[in-house]
Amino acid sequence: MITFDEASRAFHLRGDQLSLVLKLRENELMMCYLGAPLNDPEATHYLSDLRAFLSFDTLRTILPYACPTEGRGDYRPPMIRVKQPSGQRCTELQYTSHRIESGKPKLAGLPATYTESPDEAETLTITLRDPYTALEVDLSYTIFKQHAAIAQSALYRNAGQMPLVLDGAGSMCLSLPGQYDLLHLHGAWGRERMVQRLAPAALTRTVQSTRGASGHEHNPFVALLDPKTDEFSGECYGVNLVYSGDFAISVDEDGYNSTRILASINPSSFEWQLAPGETFQSPEAICVHSTCGLNGMSQALHRLYRTRLCRGTWRDKLRPILINNWEATYHNFDHDKIMDIAHAAADVGVELFVLDDGWFGHRDSDNSSLGDWVVDRRKLPNGLDALAKDINALGLQFGLWVEPEMISPDSDLYRAHPDWCLHAEGRPKSESRQQLILDMSRADVQDYVVEAIGSVLRSAPISYIKWDMNRNYLEAGSALLNDGRQGEVAHRYMLGLYRVMEQITTSFPDVLFESCSGGSGRFDPGMLHYMPQTWTSDDTDAIERLYIQYGTSMAYPISAMGAHVSAVPNHQVGRVTSMRMRGDVAIGGNFGYELDLSKQSPEDIEEIRRQIEQVKAVRSTTQQGTFTRLLSPFEGDLCAWQFHDEHRAILCSYIKMMQPNPRDVRVRMRNLPEDATYRTPSGQIISARALMQVGVRPQFEYHDFTSSVMIFDRI
Ligand code: DGJ
Repeated sequence: MITFDEASRAFHLRGDQLSLVLKLRENELMMCYLGAPLNDPEATHYLSDLRAFLSFDTLRTILPYACPTEGRGDYRPPMIRVKQPSGQRCTELQYTSHRIESGKPKLAGLPATYTESPDEAETLTITLRDPYTALEVDLSYTIFKQHAAIAQSALYRNAGQMPLVLDGAGSMCLSLPGQYDLLHLHGAWGRERMVQRLAPAALTRTVQSTRGASGHEHNPFVALLDPKTDEFSGECYGVNLVYSGDFAISVDEDGYNSTRILASINPSSFEWQLAPGETFQSPEAICVHSTCGLNGMSQALHRLYRTRLCRGTWRDKLRPILINNWEATYHNFDHDKIMDIAHAAADVGVELFVLDDGWFGHRDSDNSSLGDWVVDRRKLPNGLDALAKDINALGLQFGLWVEPEMISPDSDLYRAHPDWCLHAEGRPKSESRQQLILDMSRADVQDYVVEAIGSVLRSAPISYIKWDMNRNYLEAGSALLNDGRQGEVAHRYMLGLYRVMEQITTSFPDVLFESCSGGSGRFDPGMLHYMPQTWTSDDTDAIERLYIQYGTSMAYPISAMGAHVSAVPNHQVGRVTSMRMRGDVAIGGNFGYELDLSKQSPEDIEEIRRQIEQVKAVRSTTQQGTFTRLLSPFEGDLCAWQFHDEHRAILCSYIKMMQPNPRDVRVRMRNLPEDATYRTPSGQIISARALMQVGVRPQFEYHDFTSSVMIFDRI
């Protein structure tokens, strides 16, 4: 899969669906091609970075450097920034060696994609060296045989005698010829991952976070699209950083029809001292390529993440239908109230009860107790174990909410360790949601969290954990890094968090972990490596969820998205939608409820029973099949998506605002196996071709906020 051609000095990384060509130009490494596989090995000979009419000075400003640096005449954003003791930053990286190995080596302490057998991928590591400082960079490129994806990361090594400071340590640098539309996922709390597509622009544009989490505002993902590309056809690339903290993905279009994409830890909140002999490992970045539009790109990411980023026992298991008490009770509950909801849930076929915030310390609101992970006997006099067992006795699994990275000023933990929170010496400790953030860069804090959460998990039969994180940092300082290393806190926090999550998730392999961050302020591939699902948004309104789930699916698989039916009027937007529509939207994620089931009308309970039966029948297809977006809610009142696998095809269609005397709506399904035949919901036999070419009339009721889920069983 990876070859080095001595004559052309080209490296060709070739998977079944993708080729990457890197080339040595004298001793500098260039990126020459990334796209559909090149079948002819000779093709690499013709790829050239040379544009004969340009002077050498101009050439330096536009060459497709694989690892661009500062001070060498490339004035575009660099992949690395290295400060020498004099303050000088000039760095010139020259090729010294390379090695090719089967499979994919692990990244120490960081989340990453992986292989299960060495023949699934090959990895090329090219070492570059600056002759003056002896900084060495190992650029690693993994090509997957059966995924249209490459993974890239960099290991920085100080092989010289002078201390160096990294203040930019990129993960991925790609150079592509041409100009691209840029699609990114932006938002805020309650409206995460809105899709925005921008026309090409001769600018550097950066999506980024400096809040200590990947954030609600920008996702560490961009897609670059040929301007003619749509959901179903055309070329595009998707780039994702496998990281949950401060990130930056920049796209720079120069005046010579070339585009550079850089993905890295955000250099603006990062600095790392690299003493002689030390190394620094960057996170991994992923790039997928599609020649069949945005859906092709998303499907490549979904398959890679579902099978080779997510891990553990739950990776391939069907996810349980859960009920969460948050919107039903908020902090105000006791054993009996929880049991009322659990009884009603067991009666309709729910499989897992999740006890949310408020079960520990003396937490009657969000003003106390984070860090004191001890059950509140005022609310649960018999303790967690007894509650969990009572719930188990109803035939439900028991799950629990925790927020392990936080500390309330009103907590025993804070009173014992006031310096365990992130803070800047001499400044006030700014609270947000009346809480502070534990300094996860410290080993003693990490050990405390592992032990505290571990002992909760050992204290009762807990099958599921919702791992929440509800604020971003202000003063990102650590009491232990006052030797000039405060610039390392943001990344050390992430390394500490990853260590803690690795220990806890591997110590409790049968527990299903779902990450959460005030909804999903941390929906990223880094979290998915430890926890295979994420709460998609605190906004549970069915209409809002069309946008949020559609946007999230650009990069992340359906099996990663929590989607719950909640009460009306909706707690976030006040909208009233039918129980049917709420269920029809939640089917597009890991299905659950977030309301007081003991208070629903008999009609709604009947509908809930039907939903649960339906989800159980088709969740193998929704969670593990192929997901295709059909009609975008961002472009009109109609939204549609489909799922399919070898057993069935499911068409989900939604109308936001109904028209009077409505137009005919026909939704054409896509990507179904050409020779397949299906049974329609009314029992007719129909070919895949008809479903795709003639289309389907969704069965809508005539009112606003209406939906139709049609299941076509394959025969
Ligand atoms: C934010 C989460 O997104 C909610 O679902 C809920 O768990 C609250 N935190 C609890 O404080």
